[in-house]
Amino acid sequence: MNKIRILGIAGSPRHGNTEVGVKEALAGAAELPDVETEFYTMAGKKINPCSCPVAWRCWTEGTPENPCPRWGNDDVAQLYKKMQTFDGFIVGSPVYMGGVSSQIKALWDRLALICYRRMTLRNKVVGGIAIAAYRSGGQEQTILEIWKMAVVIDLIPVGPGPVMQDRVCMWGGALTHEYGAHKYASDYPVGAEEELTAVEQDEPGLLSCRMTGRRVAEVARVVQAGFSAVPREATYWPAGEAGGFPETDWKIVTV
Ligand SMILES: Cc1cc2nc3c(=O)[nH]c(=O)nc-3n(C[C@H](O)[C@H](O)[C@H](O)COP(=O)(O)O)c2cc1C
Repeated sequence: MNKIRILGIAGSPRHGNTEVGVKEALAGAAELPDVETEFYTMAGKKINPCSCPVAWRCWTEGTPENPCPRWGNDDVAQLYKKMQTFDGFIVGSPVYMGGVSSQIKALWDRLALICYRRMTLRNKVVGGIAIAAYRSGGQEQTILEIWKMAVVIDLIPVGPGPVMQDRVCMWGGALTHEYGAHKYASDYPVGAEEELTAVEQDEPGLLSCRMTGRRVAEVARVVQAGFSAVPREATYWPAGEAGGFPETDWKIVTV
């Protein structure tokens, strides 16, 4: 069996709870045999927004090595290069204003057109992890945003698998500060160090992360097996070289 490679991306600007959730999901992925995992944090990274003064320069000039002429070889370009070598992703975001962080949104905005054009991340698997202070602070909405962004560039979103346990989110890993000794998020004094790891108390939340990670690895394995029967190039449509496609050739490839 070939190795399956799963990359966990923590999309918070802080070394905090999102990292806890993503690492837990990677531990879940690693429960399956022949799975390799790697952790990536956006904390301390420069994740520039899509702000090209000339629209769609990435479409015309971007390459898998350097997707964005506007920002050059910044941390998004580095991360994108890394992502191409993995079979599946755990995408973790803090809930900001009921949705994903600007860092996660910026990553996807920057990758959208290059992925349309080159199909470099096509058919890789994605699971979502969301962390909010409040118990119902927007975790589900945030996971569904991650799914939506995945679908736009042809990634395959998955959930945590069979949710037979009480309080496990149906869509992915969902964590809150409101567990254990802290019934309410407001129990944490503002600026308290312990707030950065608050979700370590949230056992059902951690279980939902582990299950999601495991499910990402499982589906990535199935997709890998599929590609030993169907060459990757045969799934590119419209037809083209190395996942790119000529502007004029919109012929659909039949396997
Ligand atoms: C700008 C901002 C917006 C936030 N919006 C929400 C929210 O809508 N709902 C919620 O429950 N918590 C919200 N929070 C709290 C964070 O989701 C929470 O602190 C989370 O643990 C942050 O992840 P981190 O610890 O990995 O940085 C917000 C925090 C910030 C800084």
